[in-house]
Amino acid sequence: MTDAFDQTIHPIDETETAAPPRRARWSIALPIGALAAAVAGTIGLGTTSAGESRVARGAYLTTISGCGDCHTPGDFYGKPDETKPLSGSEVGFEIPGLGVFHGPNLTPDRETGLGRWSEAEIVTAIRTGIRPDGRELAPIMPWRNFARLSDEDARAVAAYLKSLPPIGHRVPGPFGPQDRPTSFVMKIVAP
Ligand code: HEC
Repeated sequence: MTDAFDQTIHPIDETETAAPPRRARWSIALPIGALAAAVAGTIGLGTTSAGESRVARGAYLTTISGCGDCHTPGDFYGKPDETKPLSGSEVGFEIPGLGVFHGPNLTPDRETGLGRWSEAEIVTAIRTGIRPDGRELAPIMPWRNFARLSDEDARAVAAYLKSLPPIGHRVPGPFGPQDRPTSFVMKIVAP
């Protein structure tokens, strides 16, 4: 009994302190180049390690919160496109009476992603569901849960999103209840 208990406990400790889970490696590996450039270019030398650990913390939180499930292309087909992390899902969620909503592009692309959003605006959207244009995000985006993120963690998530390589990809929608969706949809089907 004791041995079996030990074996289940130890891997959990290791994921917290050492290597990220295998499926999530891309989300940490890809931004390293972008981070190095950002650190060298825009962030002062004195803040290098603080900025780096903030982005690493954001990568960790983004991974365990499953943001990629709804925001990375291919994820709902069982094949997340690891070359385009968090660049938007081609599968939308139908919320009865509300419409169909695709997880948008969270990379810093200025035209199709969050490139024009400040970190503070990203934090507000994640924790209160309010976009810079005032629209409230559909409840399938779990912002009511993310409302519990501390200031520091919410800012770490925003910093990580800003560190991603920008990818041009506009998701369809959002579609109102009367609109005809143009891409794949997950539906709630009555029995
Ligand atoms: C269960 C699916 C799901 C998960 C998990 C999820 N999101 Fe979302 N998210 C969505 C959907 C769908 C939208 C679009 C909702 C809308 O347009 O009303 C959205 C919208 C957003 C937006 C607003 C973007 C925009 O262009 O309007 C941000 C920012 C965001 N999510 C960040 C995150 C982060 C960060 C995580 C993880 C910590 C996360 N999301 C996890 C589904 C999800």
